[in-house]
Amino acid sequence: MKPGSMWAAGMAAMAMGIGAAAAWAENGLAVIGSTKEPGVLGTVTLQDTPDGVAVTVQLAGAPPGQHAVHIHQYGDCARGGEAAGGHFNPEKTPHGFVPKDGVTSAHPGDMGNIDVGKDGSGSLTVTLPGVILGSGPFSVGGRSIVVHERADDFSQPTGNAGGRIGCGVIVLTEPMTSE
Ligand code: CU
Ligand code: ZN
Repeated sequence: MKPGSMWAAGMAAMAMGIGAAAAWAENGLAVIGSTKEPGVLGTVTLQDTPDGVAVTVQLAGAPPGQHAVHIHQYGDCARGGEAAGGHFNPEKTPHGFVPKDGVTSAHPGDMGNIDVGKDGSGSLTVTLPGVILGSGPFSVGGRSIVVHERADDFSQPTGNAGGRIGCGVIVLTEPMTSE
């Protein structure tokens, strides 16, 4: 493909909402497993966009109600999710809600709460501004996504969300293309 047609294909892909063709943009996936059996299952898809990392969380088998979802430091869900460490916090900022507060005033993976219905399923769609899957100071590729037993009340230091009921490691995946 010539550069011009690459650009056109990229723009067409963006217009169709099936993924940007920008060289820096990565796609990611985290498969959420329960820290106990039986328990929560889910998938999290992530995608670099010009506005930050677009995240879609889908859960099943979770207790009804609100549950905090965060990105934690390490890509390791061993020991009931404890091996994931604390909230990813490269700039030693307070805990918050990154879509509103930004990475200068919240942890990059502070994405708030998912609403789970009576059937145990729920979804959350959110964009994390200033965050990236690829390389950069706020890169979240290879870290983990943790689902908590309770809602995030946005208090310090980590939102008072209780134990870890689900965990998954963010891996980079092949982007969808229009070829
Ligand atoms: Cu957390
Ligand atoms: Zn936090």
